[in-house]
Amino acid sequence: MPEILTGPALYAFVRALPKAELHVHLVGSASLPTVLTLAGRRPSAGVPTEPAALADFFTYQDFPHFLKVYAAVSSLVRDGRDIHTLVTGLAADLAAQNARYAEVTVTPYSHLRAGMPGDELLTGLATGCAAALAEHGVELAWCFDIPGEDGLEAAEETTVFALRERPDGLVSLGLGGPELGVGRAQFAPYFTRAREAGLHSVPHAGETTGPATIWSALHDLGAERIGHGTSCTDDPALLNYLALHRIPLEVCPTSNVATRQVPSLAGHPIRRMLDHGVLVTLNTDDPPMFGATLNGEYAAVAEALGLATTEVARLAANAVNASFMSAGRKTELTAEIQRMMLQDPSSFA
Ligand code: ADE
Ligand code: ZN
Repeated sequence: MPEILTGPALYAFVRALPKAELHVHLVGSASLPTVLTLAGRRPSAGVPTEPAALADFFTYQDFPHFLKVYAAVSSLVRDGRDIHTLVTGLAADLAAQNARYAEVTVTPYSHLRAGMPGDELLTGLATGCAAALAEHGVELAWCFDIPGEDGLEAAEETTVFALRERPDGLVSLGLGGPELGVGRAQFAPYFTRAREAGLHSVPHAGETTGPATIWSALHDLGAERIGHGTSCTDDPALLNYLALHRIPLEVCPTSNVATRQVPSLAGHPIRRMLDHGVLVTLNTDDPPMFGATLNGEYAAVAEALGLATTEVARLAANAVNASFMSAGRKTELTAEIQRMMLQDPSSFA
């Protein structure tokens, strides 16, 4: 009889699961104290310097409003020290969630445009990554993403920077920002170049627009995972395709509620994704900006869907499986999750 845990016992089970986070933006991972500190240093950026006002600032009318707020927070990040602070802050937060590995989306174009020298960005990432492992036992990898709103110039600069610098831990090229009016297909040459150079393709698609954007990400950009993919449930043929080809979705449920793409967690199409056999992973996107945590995502989805502990553990295993970590690390983490599946769930009560 599968065991369904709720409340504190469910949370204890989730907490004990080793997890991988596959969709988290570096700027969007800044903790509230970090944002307040950075905002205090640069009051002209328009980001509140008081906690209550910041909470208000992090309430979104719609997706374009969220992107404006995100851009304001991004403008606070100016030098390599800020990057190091973000990376180590994220690592501490991941460790607190018992996340062992994360693929972190970095948007070099935004930082370079804001005047940060490329080598400062790279040094901040490298020193932050080393500290994440040494101090928190968290392994980090990077996804450099194209901010879609900045078009082909951003695509060119991001791809050139990624392939020229090729920092340790860079595993993928992404595409973020708005989808409406920013067709995926125009970015095909950049994704082709990146894939030919050995990077994986992980664009956002189907977060704010329909299934056609996901099809385009698959066909035009060779997407190996889809950022969000929420609207895939509007197209049964797409659901079948994703399941058949085992294309993982980086689902970010709390983000989708906060940016008003779905009405509520209960109204999220995740149940239909799972019922169709799609490889679903759970992620936080921009955790403090949405009041999300990785354990919170697992617990909330498990409660909303009435998942058994084995199904919750499978979500964690999906993320390990869908990641670009080394085969050896995948084997270790999968074995750890399997051992938890065999543990008596009542021991978490
Ligand atoms: N950049 C940061 N968060 C994002 C999101 N949820 N979608 C697209 N671009 C983003
Ligand atoms: Zn995202």
